[in-house]
Amino acid sequence: MATLAPAPTVRPRGSLSVDGHHEPCVIVIFGATGDLTHRKLIPALYNLAADGHLPENTALVGFARRPLNDQQFQTDIAETAAQYARRPFRPPAVAAFADARYVQASFDDPSGYQELKRVCAELDRRYGIRGNRLFYLATAPSAYTTIVQQLEAAGMIRKGAGDGPGWTRVIIEKPFGHDLPSARQLNAELAAVLREDQIFRIDHYLGKETVQNILAFRFGNRIFESLWNRDHVAHIQFTVAESIGVEGRGPFYEQTGALRDMVANHMLQVLALVAMEPPVTLDADAIRDEKVKVLRAIPPFTTQEVEQRTVRGQYGPGMVQGTVVPGYRQEERVDPSSLTETFIALQLRIENWRWAGVPIYLRHGKRLPERTSSIAIQFKRMPKLLFSRGSQESLAPNVLTLRIQPDDGISLRFNSKVPGTGMEIQPVEMDFGFCSLGRPAAEAYERLLLDAMSGQQALFIRHDEVEAAWAIVDSIRAGWAHLPLPQFPNYPAGTWGPPEADALIGRRGFRWLVPQPANQQGAYAPA
Ligand code: BG6
Repeated sequence: MATLAPAPTVRPRGSLSVDGHHEPCVIVIFGATGDLTHRKLIPALYNLAADGHLPENTALVGFARRPLNDQQFQTDIAETAAQYARRPFRPPAVAAFADARYVQASFDDPSGYQELKRVCAELDRRYGIRGNRLFYLATAPSAYTTIVQQLEAAGMIRKGAGDGPGWTRVIIEKPFGHDLPSARQLNAELAAVLREDQIFRIDHYLGKETVQNILAFRFGNRIFESLWNRDHVAHIQFTVAESIGVEGRGPFYEQTGALRDMVANHMLQVLALVAMEPPVTLDADAIRDEKVKVLRAIPPFTTQEVEQRTVRGQYGPGMVQGTVVPGYRQEERVDPSSLTETFIALQLRIENWRWAGVPIYLRHGKRLPERTSSIAIQFKRMPKLLFSRGSQESLAPNVLTLRIQPDDGISLRFNSKVPGTGMEIQPVEMDFGFCSLGRPAAEAYERLLLDAMSGQQALFIRHDEVEAAWAIVDSIRAGWAHLPLPQFPNYPAGTWGPPEADALIGRRGFRWLVPQPANQQGAYAPA
């Protein structure tokens, strides 16, 4: 679909914009030799530097147990950026790359923090950073509390003017606990050291273009918002399908499973943006106030609801995109009789004025036929008047699809007359791809790192959202604990999960939809 001639760009009111000035800071990455640092953080920092978004005096310190010196860390950074960044590597003139430092210590070793403090102070003087610190905890969650407590003990957390110049912010990665009690405990331990506006709980789905665009799309357009409710919407379905398996993360996944890995955070977060009321402004707390209301309006599942409205699955051996792949139980470091789910489909309710009675379906799985994530809002059918002729069901309902990946964009299905002398009606697709705006999308971590450097929390999760999400997820797990175990494996790799998932959505006469590439006729294929 063509885009219109460029009109003046409109900036949001509130803080949801990163166009502001970014102050230099020292970024300290705990877990600097780990997978997240290599695959996401270093490439994101490099891309930001290459695009001119990082002040030249942004400094970087790696903190980890592995023995490395500064020189080796700098080489590691350059190699990592060359391997994973979006663009060819040319060393940027930013201190983070030219003069990165490394502190070798275990996370509970106070002397490591003294050394870190010394290194940060030196970088501060050299680059005129004025005390700003961004601590990125790219470590196992079990280390979070220890690290912030050690930082505090070393006098590295600035909470107020009395603590010296500059700001202190801490980014932490999911999982934020593994259930409601552990999430509450983590929140309390963090709150004992940091103010909430210093804690940045990252959910990389909130950094994805289409996800951010949900706000622009919903609240920047008159035509859809008036239909965005129980009077017009028949159901909402949200699929996050992955073709990959557990990618060597067996031990982590064994403890986690599909429900806690994806639904507890990414999927409920995105759903909250889709379902929330218009926020008063685009400031972080205004948005998060509305999101948390949605999460709180999702009632915990009873055991009976868990039985009727959830489907769990685990993949067996199969074929994905032409390649034979092992079953989950045959994956590296996975229990050969594992009962961990790699697939989940569920139907939930949002008990509020806008959504009461509208079924909401979530589906996620590993080793499905393709990688595709999208949210489809299916509208109610037309009254049987003009085009019924006994076959009203054949008029396809309107569907609005927000494609998160790949090929991010938005499409709208509506009915149109087929050219000719008759009155044949056929569903057609109006499609918009973000790539048509001509600017490459930033990686989610780029946007989120920049937001953290600017102190903007709108795309980060607040403590009460974490707890509201766990309350829902815990109720499902409690139900599962009382119900008979499914016969795992119950879907072959390369299929769309167990047949019960189709039956779940089929009970109300719906079916799962999978967006097809934009240039293909008929944008949906039944899953
Ligand atoms: C992570 C999960 O949070 O998100 C992984 O732990 C999952 O299991 C990943 O594969 C998916 O992210 P993306 O951006 O590839 O959809």
